[in-house]
Amino acid sequence: MKLSLTVNGRQESLDVEVGTSLLHVLREQLGLTGTKEGCAEGECGACTVLRDGKPIDSCIMAAHACEQSEITTIEVIGDSPDHPSELQNCLVESGGIQCGFCTPGFVMVLTALLKVNAAPTDAEIKHALAGNICRCTGYAQIIEAVIATAKTHQ
Ligand code: FES
Ligand code: FES
Repeated sequence: MKLSLTVNGRQESLDVEVGTSLLHVLREQLGLTGTKEGCAEGECGACTVLRDGKPIDSCIMAAHACEQSEITTIEVIGDSPDHPSELQNCLVESGGIQCGFCTPGFVMVLTALLKVNAAPTDAEIKHALAGNICRCTGYAQIIEAVIATAKTHQ
């Protein structure tokens, strides 16, 4: 079936098989491999992208349900790889950068949070991160980075 949607500001028109996930379309058809597959069951948040500005698990989102949606992926967060977003800089500075699987998901969910809430509390940050799982390290430095990002805008 045909699918028309906007990905990172670009209009795309694709042939997709019924039942294909948005994650598959992004990675395999559009080559946007920054979005990762972790659990593939909607549990870990590694595959988080923004759909019309809101975080979603792209592994369990049917591509055909995204007709005419605006999708944003980790590839366009920050101006360029050499100019990361303020949040990405703060994650590096606070030691909140984790592995390549979970970090893109964290960045996407926190970017969405900061867009609607420029100065979130610890509880609001924890709530936003509820669907993003990493059992390797803690969440303290990530929370620290979000608070530091918020301070740069005060
Ligand atoms: S890969 Fe999508 S939630 Fe884990
Ligand atoms: S899953 Fe990435 S550091 Fe734990």
